Amino acid sequence: MRRAELLDDIIKRRLIYWPSFEIYGGVGGFYDYGPLGAQLRRNIIEKWRSVFILPYQDTIVEIETPIIMPEPVFRASGHLDHFTDYVITCTKCGRKYRADHLVEEELAKRRLKVSAEGLPPESLQQLVDEYKISCPACGGALNGVETFNLLFRTTVGPYSNSTGYLRPETAQGIFVAFPRVVEYMRRRLPFGVAQIGRVARNEISPRGGLIRLREFTQMEIELFFDPLSPKCPYFAEVENIEVPVVPEELVAKGQSEPLLLTAREIVERNYASEWMAFFMALSVKFLRGLGVPLERQKFVGKLPHERAHYSSKSYDQVVLTERFGWIEVSGHAYRADYDLSRHSKYSGYEIYLERRLPEPREVEVARVYPNPAAIRERYGERIGEVIKAIKEGGDVIASAFRSEADRVSLGPYVITRDMVFIKVERKRVEFEKFVPHVVEPSFGLDRVLYVTLELAVAEEGGRVYLKLPPDIAPVNACILPIVRRAEYVEIGSRLMRELAREGFIVLYDDEGTIGSRYASCDEIGTPAAITIDERTLVDGTVTVRDRDTRRQVRVRISDVAKFVELVRRGVGFDSAAKALGAAPA
Ligand code: ATP
Ligand code: GLY
Repeated sequence: MRRAELLDDIIKRRLIYWPSFEIYGGVGGFYDYGPLGAQLRRNIIEKWRSVFILPYQDTIVEIETPIIMPEPVFRASGHLDHFTDYVITCTKCGRKYRADHLVEEELAKRRLKVSAEGLPPESLQQLVDEYKISCPACGGALNGVETFNLLFRTTVGPYSNSTGYLRPETAQGIFVAFPRVVEYMRRRLPFGVAQIGRVARNEISPRGGLIRLREFTQMEIELFFDPLSPKCPYFAEVENIEVPVVPEELVAKGQSEPLLLTAREIVERNYASEWMAFFMALSVKFLRGLGVPLERQKFVGKLPHERAHYSSKSYDQVVLTERFGWIEVSGHAYRADYDLSRHSKYSGYEIYLERRLPEPREVEVARVYPNPAAIRERYGERIGEVIKAIKEGGDVIASAFRSEADRVSLGPYVITRDMVFIKVERKRVEFEKFVPHVVEPSFGLDRVLYVTLELAVAEEGGRVYLKLPPDIAPVNACILPIVRRAEYVEIGSRLMRELAREGFIVLYDDEGTIGSRYASCDEIGTPAAITIDERTLVDGTVTVRDRDTRRQVRVRISDVAKFVELVRRGVGFDSAAKALGAAPA
């Protein structure tokens, strides 16, 4: 656990993040990010945008929708019924555990590897009974497995019956806003809608720091496409990217070793559609860009009972960490038309698009006309209301009478066959309605941040530093006058303001030995450390030191901003030095 322990030390000392509400004793599953952590989050988000949105901005757009959503949304989305875990309680100490995790952990202690994810409560109970699992804290007996819904509930406004929930995924905001966004996208498929934002899940027993939080940030895309045109126009760009994947059929056989396939091979073997494989390939690229090597990544197919209620096919992208083993950083789901169809049904707002038919089609259309004489005979003075109801319910009446029914109820009115005339006409149609299908990559920012940090820890001859990719390092450069002398301090402050104006994040430090200040820059992953020294006053140059190699070059003060920018862009320290004609120090 060397790497994880070294990281803990840096996180604590540099206040990258810490448990929230500490002065009140803390509450599990909530974390604050300090200034360095918050900047690192922003940089990871920007990197995600640069991989998933920026190059495809004519197809993928980003929106923002509320965190609190009214109850009908989650009735439609299925979260009220299905977004549940199973909880088990100790009858002696009252501690509560997530039943599947408890079973897995307790059996692992007995060297039994069991995947309990998605098991029904009866099976979990059976395992608890069979293996005589008791409370790991006090040894007390555990009571029956119960269902627990993970949605956080609240009320909206002063009305206690106006229930709202904190969203457990940003996706629902996108589905509910679909009728608006589709107009923005000119009703042309395919298109994607991204959202980055906070979500909340009332996890039963949050542990593992940032890995299982009750409030966290997701970066999601819902990619809408016509199921009859499932091609991804950008696929050629990613088809040769290698993706380690354990397809569902191998997971079912108990295999965990991935196959290393190109995105193209994944599609050819029918392991995923083009859009899904496209996002899997981009996800590999994204994580590699954060410093996660390919051999520590894989996509694991989810078996039907392990998938979320809305998913017809899913992969988890998992990363091998030292502290937690393999952890899921992103979920990739084929949600088909589940969400849009459910929102249509529950809201009464029909969500659909139209596609041109390959050949125009002749269809029969039954038109319904009221028969005033028969209506008056039955309903007298209310004839006007009944005619209105018949006009509004024409489709219902036509379909009932064209089958075997001899009467139809329309609200308070009973319509019999003699009260209407039905005329069947033939019509030529060129379009048909359909509900778009959806593929979704969903990243948890906090888990991504943790794996990025853990894999960045480097140790060399007693020196510990974070080898973060320069474009996500929370600080771009440190400015370190070699000693605190008025002239140096003045140059340092000027340089700092200049770099800040250029949009860099800079730390100025003139306290302590230069060695300890270098170490302090390195341990937060700052790619460049700039010192101002005797020679600066003579020739207007400063030294710039490379975090990874500790090599130093002399750079003209007027070139420092360019140098820092080249390093941030990832051209490499030596190439930046060469580009600006910087001499070794
Ligand atoms: P798990 O199986 O670990 O509970 P999940 O399958 O419920 O995760 P998803 O519903 O697929 O996760 O959510 C999408 C992403 O959100 C995950 O890949 C993960 O990165 C992140 N995520 C989910 N739950 C949490 C959590 N409690 N804390 C932090 N991040 C989370
Ligand atoms: N939107 C996918 C998830 O949060 O599970």
